[in-house]
Amino acid sequence: MNDALSLPIFQIIGDIADSMGVKAFVVGGYVRDYYLKRPCTDVDVVVVGSGIAVAEALGKKLHAKVSVFKNFGTAMLRYKDLEVEFVGARKESYRADSRKPIVENGTLEDDQLRRDFTINAMAFSLNKDSFGELVDPFEGMGDMERCILRTPCDPDVTFSDDPLRMIRAVRFATQLGFDIDDVTFDAIGRNKERISIVSKERIITELNKIMLSPAPSIGFYLFDSCGLLPLIFPELSALKGVETRGGRTHKDNFIHTLKVLDNVSRHSDNLGLRWAALLHDIGKPRTKAYDPKVGWTFHGHEVVGCKMVHSIFRNMKLPLNDKMKYVQKLVLLHLRPIILSEDIVTDSAVRRLLFEAGDDIDDLMTLCEADITSGNDAKVRTYMRNFELVRRKLKEIEEKDRIRNFQPPISGELIMETYGLQPCREVGDIKSAIKDAILDGDIENDFEQAYSLMEKLAAEKGLKKV
Ligand code: CTP
Repeated sequence: MNDALSLPIFQIIGDIADSMGVKAFVVGGYVRDYYLKRPCTDVDVVVVGSGIAVAEALGKKLHAKVSVFKNFGTAMLRYKDLEVEFVGARKESYRADSRKPIVENGTLEDDQLRRDFTINAMAFSLNKDSFGELVDPFEGMGDMERCILRTPCDPDVTFSDDPLRMIRAVRFATQLGFDIDDVTFDAIGRNKERISIVSKERIITELNKIMLSPAPSIGFYLFDSCGLLPLIFPELSALKGVETRGGRTHKDNFIHTLKVLDNVSRHSDNLGLRWAALLHDIGKPRTKAYDPKVGWTFHGHEVVGCKMVHSIFRNMKLPLNDKMKYVQKLVLLHLRPIILSEDIVTDSAVRRLLFEAGDDIDDLMTLCEADITSGNDAKVRTYMRNFELVRRKLKEIEEKDRIRNFQPPISGELIMETYGLQPCREVGDIKSAIKDAILDGDIENDFEQAYSLMEKLAAEKGLKKV
């Protein structure tokens, strides 16, 4: 018995296929993930014949709704947690979201040959006489044991059928810890320019899968070595390299960034936090300068980087929503805890940081700790000790002053109402002076004290209550 096919649905599909006189197979990711012991809820069924007819018969039997996409010759139904997709075996290239209608029917082997990688081209038979048998004409199983990604046919053909597969090669290598076979890898170098015809949406789906892998750096090093990096992520590529002047060399910000990304990934699965790690120094190339007195500087790179987040997200077709704002905020604030820890950790500096970071303060601290990639152990120890102090202070101040997500107790509206003002500079000045007084610890985060301060400031400005 094949454990991968223990759910009754697989036998039912086999019975239907038998009764129609056609052959049916589970193919692709579901077979691969079974052997890799990874959970998989997407099942692709290939029918040597009409996939739609088998899906419709199955829908009738299970009383399940079948969605049919006639132009593409596919049909889909849900069964328990599974999403089962049916397709007829094709001679031409298989693409999950192809906009091209299918042209020619083929055998199972034709279909397997035109899939992306040998490990994704294995099939389990569903017909009764051969139920559960593995059909693996391109040695997918061997490649899986050797941990190799290889295309079933000439890689130039595989990649020209669908250039996204070059990125998928890097994605699977990162996700599964596999190597890309040399012949396949060289073909990526030859075909890399063709990536320009692939939609940004398809690319970002793969990039996010790389970002969520245990060590995402693997993918970015591979993109760099095969030549895809400047084509799909020029801003990241610009971080590469070192320069020496006056005997001083700055660090390679590409290598540093990828270390930070892996460090963060060891501590958190949060995709946004991982993006913040990848982009935290993205403004460095644009702010780099050499000053003979102090050496290399990157002044304001956090501000420039924060602005770049928006354009990078827009170019990559990532949503420009709260998650982007979160990444921007972390990029903008990423130096603050370290500056804080280098100085005397005053209550007021801690309050300001808490105020600006709000609920994201813990993520910011995770990013900052990950940012310490120095090879000098003594330095690392000092930083970590100081961070410990910052964390302790953050906790103390938060318990005492409730600054996280704090809203100043006196609003602009109240100031305008009290003194009969229209929106103007005076209102803004009073409001921010109250906020500063709270953050500096001059008054408490309390309405009465803030109201008295408002009265004092208004009197100084010669304002009268109405
Ligand atoms: N496939 C392909 N070329 C593509 C995309 C997909 O040949 N560009 C084939 C592969 O056989 C793949 C199957 O379609 O296994 C299903 O594709 P998809 O659902 O996109 O990916 P999976 O391989 O299942 O991987 P994952 O679930 O991790 O996305």
